[in-house]
Amino acid sequence: MFSADTYKQRRAELKKRVGSGLVLLLGNDLVGMNYADNEYPFRQDSTFIYYFGLTNPGLNAIIDIDNDREIIFGDELTIDDIVWTGVLPTLHEQAHDVGVEKTLPTADLKKMLDEAKAKGHKIHYIPYYRAEHRVKLFNLLGIKPGQDEPSVDLIRAVVDMRNHKTAEEIVEIEKACDVTADMHMQAMRIARPGMTEYEVMAEVQKVAQAAGMALSFPIICTTQGQTLHQHKYLHTLNPGDMLLLDAGAETAGGYAGDMSSTICVDKKFTKRQKDVYDIQVASHLAAVDALKPGVPFEDVYNLSCEVICQGMKDLGIMKGDPKEAVPAGAHAMFMPCGLGHMMGLDVHDMENLGEVWVGYNGRPKSTQFGRKSLRLARPLEPGFVLTIEPGIYFIPELIDLWGKDNKFGEFINYNELNKWRDWTGVRNEEDYLITADGARRLGKKIPLTTEEVEALR
Ligand code: GLY
Ligand code: MN
Repeated sequence: MFSADTYKQRRAELKKRVGSGLVLLLGNDLVGMNYADNEYPFRQDSTFIYYFGLTNPGLNAIIDIDNDREIIFGDELTIDDIVWTGVLPTLHEQAHDVGVEKTLPTADLKKMLDEAKAKGHKIHYIPYYRAEHRVKLFNLLGIKPGQDEPSVDLIRAVVDMRNHKTAEEIVEIEKACDVTADMHMQAMRIARPGMTEYEVMAEVQKVAQAAGMALSFPIICTTQGQTLHQHKYLHTLNPGDMLLLDAGAETAGGYAGDMSSTICVDKKFTKRQKDVYDIQVASHLAAVDALKPGVPFEDVYNLSCEVICQGMKDLGIMKGDPKEAVPAGAHAMFMPCGLGHMMGLDVHDMENLGEVWVGYNGRPKSTQFGRKSLRLARPLEPGFVLTIEPGIYFIPELIDLWGKDNKFGEFINYNELNKWRDWTGVRNEEDYLITADGARRLGKKIPLTTEEVEALR
């Protein structure tokens, strides 16, 4: 948690930007996994953390702009609670730590919202992502599913503030990135033929937990790297395989790291593995090199895709001009996803607030296969924190689907491509802060090139 002043300043800025009405921010509640008392690990809502800093369940808050009031709603522990949870700070003590002096019981929240509605005051809220949030919102506002109208004024204000990370936020993100890097280097050191994906995943998770951190998202640890988000750990690592790891740590305050690495299961990469891996590295380095304020991230994406197309052309898998192949969408055969995303209190920062606001500044997204998965396209600004994660994926189902119609036949040589269909996939991912004149990698450096990976194998 930061000092009370940080949260006071953030709330003051939010009031100025939204202008009038009442901002309702819902905290998260405990959720049962299989019965009520056996709960999922608790994770507070990130926007609630950003403005109110508190990471305990059962809290909600109002920022009443017209009356210049901030109120945290919650309930004091009863003796029944204390028997199970021990003594915790009172609601008032928690609120005081984040610069809020007024607290009220949860039951008063609906009363205050009813009064505000009766006076014709606008109630601003963001889009929510959990079913229990939505039920809470419907009950509090007396509306039915489908009648909720998140406030665009609030979304834009929150997105603009959270997109620009402050120095104290960068310190937190960098702590998460350092542990994230340790997770990847541990996998590089311990993964051996004969181990299961599950065993490697457990060692990676242990690094985060031993550092007092959580995971910022479920670990991807797979020899089937062509599947972008493979969350199963069913395979044994065999000689000749590569292992793709996508994993990140999260600090106690909620800030995320997110890196990916791809290693050879043997001590050295084969020539065939290296032929494609080196193209991914070239694409990655070209993207990093292009990062600076003012550059639209979509241009960086185009550049990294062109490098992949050129590499594929050099292998005989593609043909034609990469500068024509990328606008046409042919590169999506190998990279059917984005190049990176904002990162902060959420690993995909504020994804529930809408990529159009977070990554596009209100501009509509492309609907083209591949490009439509680009979560970030807007011109870069100092303070943005983002990931760089180009990948090259050989997806047999996509090769077959496009190949039967010779789709993009002017750019893709399917006879050659079919010789590589079992190559699987490679992704390497790092985290960057956009600075006044360029970009700075966050956290310890993890091996990127095949030589750097082999040095740890
Ligand atoms: N690290 C998971 C993702 O970026 O989608
Ligand atoms: Mn990522």
